[in-house]
Amino acid sequence: MEPVIRLENLTKEFKVLNRHEGIKGAIGDLFSRDYKIVTAVNDVSLDIMPGEIIGYLGPNGAGKSTTIKMMSGVLEPTRGRVICNGMEPYRNRTQNAENIGVVFGQRSQLWWSLPAIESFRILRDIYQVSNADYQEMMDLYATMVDMESILHKPVRQMSLGQRTLCDILAAFLHNPSVVYLDEPTIGLDVAMKAKIRELILMLNEQKKTTVILTTHDMGDVDALCRRIVIIDKGSKLYDNDIEHLSELFGKYRTLSLVLTGKSDAGNTELISRRLADVKAVLEERWPSSDFFEVSVSDFSIEILIDEKKASLMNVISAIQDKMKIYDIHIEEISTESVIRKIYGGGI
Ligand SMILES: Nc1ncnc2c1ncn2[C@@H]1O[C@H](COP(=O)(O)OP(=O)(O)OP(=O)(O)O)[C@@H](O)[C@H]1O
Ligand SMILES: [Mg+2]
Repeated sequence: MEPVIRLENLTKEFKVLNRHEGIKGAIGDLFSRDYKIVTAVNDVSLDIMPGEIIGYLGPNGAGKSTTIKMMSGVLEPTRGRVICNGMEPYRNRTQNAENIGVVFGQRSQLWWSLPAIESFRILRDIYQVSNADYQEMMDLYATMVDMESILHKPVRQMSLGQRTLCDILAAFLHNPSVVYLDEPTIGLDVAMKAKIRELILMLNEQKKTTVILTTHDMGDVDALCRRIVIIDKGSKLYDNDIEHLSELFGKYRTLSLVLTGKSDAGNTELISRRLADVKAVLEERWPSSDFFEVSVSDFSIEILIDEKKASLMNVISAIQDKMKIYDIHIEEISTESVIRKIYGGGI
């Protein structure tokens, strides 16, 4: 099978002014030719197959939105290229628009003062969707969304959740082969997030649409993506199924210690004292011990250990030298905490 999207050594550089401090600096900047180059996306190559849902992840400023802007034809690559449905999006913007749909977080693509149904009709006409196809799409949405409550409402009067539902419907309406979703569930409550995820899954399944998703919400990743691509500082760091993450980040494990006896169950003051003791032990033995994350969960103390920096056995014995350990559990780090670390810039 041919990939629906191929990135070949895709690179985007921005030329930005080197800013200087203070008023004198600001005035100087007005006339300055002191530029620096920021490499937002650095030599990224990637094949995306039809029907995949890909999580495109990375910390703030990693280059996710810039990649998506190049994939959707908004920005021209500095080097390398994007091929989407056999053409370069930036060079074929009109044609490309017929093959893609986009949802950008809180920014609606719909006409603000029109009832949603009018926006859908306009899009139907713009994209020349046949009446039969249009009706089929509407019927499909209606199986999952209470259309009556939103169709006749002007977009500006909608809740964020209703607007997001409409934006997603609008993005899929002309049955594009690729849909880009940039933070689709941002700001929504739990129930609406679940609804949106269900809708995306259903559309992906029914229409075999390829979906490129960026999100900071691990619930989205868990619910929707099998394959994830992680970028950091513009470069691709990881590209594989979500299960294989641990092969790359398997050096982290959580050590869970019970440091109080049964008779002290619920003694929160004692537990906080133990927490302080544990931190003191770690700091004494590993002076730059900022690679540990220590927290309390119920009555146990949890230590997330980067095993490239400290071995599990050494941590246990250092603690045992100073206090009684009642119970020990060792857990592999979950995908969610790995990704949270990645987003926190902990890699
Ligand atoms: N138009 C621009 N001009 C100059 N620099 C830019 C421009 N757009 C993005 N950048 C820079 O490129 C880098 C990548 O930005 P980008 O918006 O792609 O990151 P992101 O991964 O989408 O981050 P976030 O998670 O915060 O949305 C950042 O350093 C950003 O400051
Ligand atoms: Mg972004």
